[in-house]
Amino acid sequence: MWNPASYDQHSQVQFGLAQEVIEQLDLTAVGSILDVGCGSGRVTAELAARCPGARVVGVDLAPEMVDFATRSYARPGLSFEVADAAALEFRQGFDLVCSFACLHWLSDPPTAVARMGRLLNPSGRLRVQLGGQGNMAFWLERVEALRSSPNWREAFADFKMPWTFLGLEPFRRALGDLKVERLELISRTGCLASRQAFKSWFEAGWRPYVERLTELELESFTDQLLGNHEGEIKVPMVRVDLSACAGC
Ligand SMILES: C[S@@+](CC[C@H](N)C(=O)[O-])C[C@H]1O[C@@H](n2cnc3c(N)ncnc32)[C@H](O)[C@@H]1O
Repeated sequence: MWNPASYDQHSQVQFGLAQEVIEQLDLTAVGSILDVGCGSGRVTAELAARCPGARVVGVDLAPEMVDFATRSYARPGLSFEVADAAALEFRQGFDLVCSFACLHWLSDPPTAVARMGRLLNPSGRLRVQLGGQGNMAFWLERVEALRSSPNWREAFADFKMPWTFLGLEPFRRALGDLKVERLELISRTGCLASRQAFKSWFEAGWRPYVERLTELELESFTDQLLGNHEGEIKVPMVRVDLSACAGC
């Protein structure tokens, strides 16, 4: 289960990635937007603020996220709903269907992308960014090694890495008849200002790991993970960056 308030406050890395994409979008003729895996709603609200008058819908699998997003950000034209990215259905299409930092949580991200493409209006655009092959490898390798070590093995019994980080080809195949404008693996580095900032970011975003630990255990786990790292902590990331359109 997510802690939406904590995610909203400590997801500056994810928000920065989304904002970079949003800056590149031409939103002038966009009258409707679907944001898939909207989380706490902060990114969706940013999109809505840049498109006054548009119909903007954020969807997320987690009811606690949708509840928080609704209480924090909903207003006329901007709404939030519980929905599974793997089974999206809407009566009306959208001019922009987007998703940020979400689809790698699914077992089959390319099929979800294909489904999102089918929700586009005739001149609509799909804009998706998610973790790709090699994403967060530096920290993920350390986390995986630590949780498999004798001290933590019991807490993580039967645990499976929760993310699907793929290369580009499965996405290229899934896009079918859509015109691909961009399909790249890009590198970005998230920066967390201190050990405490890293711990808060870890607690907010690495939920399947965090949920296996008590508060005290989490403190000890992240201390062991960080070793003697001091000052700014870098998180190297690899993202699948995808833009495709229907009638362009
Ligand atoms: C890291 S958060 C990203 C939130 C937001 N898009 C952002 O960029 O800050 C990932 C979100 O994906 C949602 N999610 C995971 N699996 C999903 C699914 N199958 N369908 C819809 N949302 C899903 C989670 O509940 C979570 O809110």
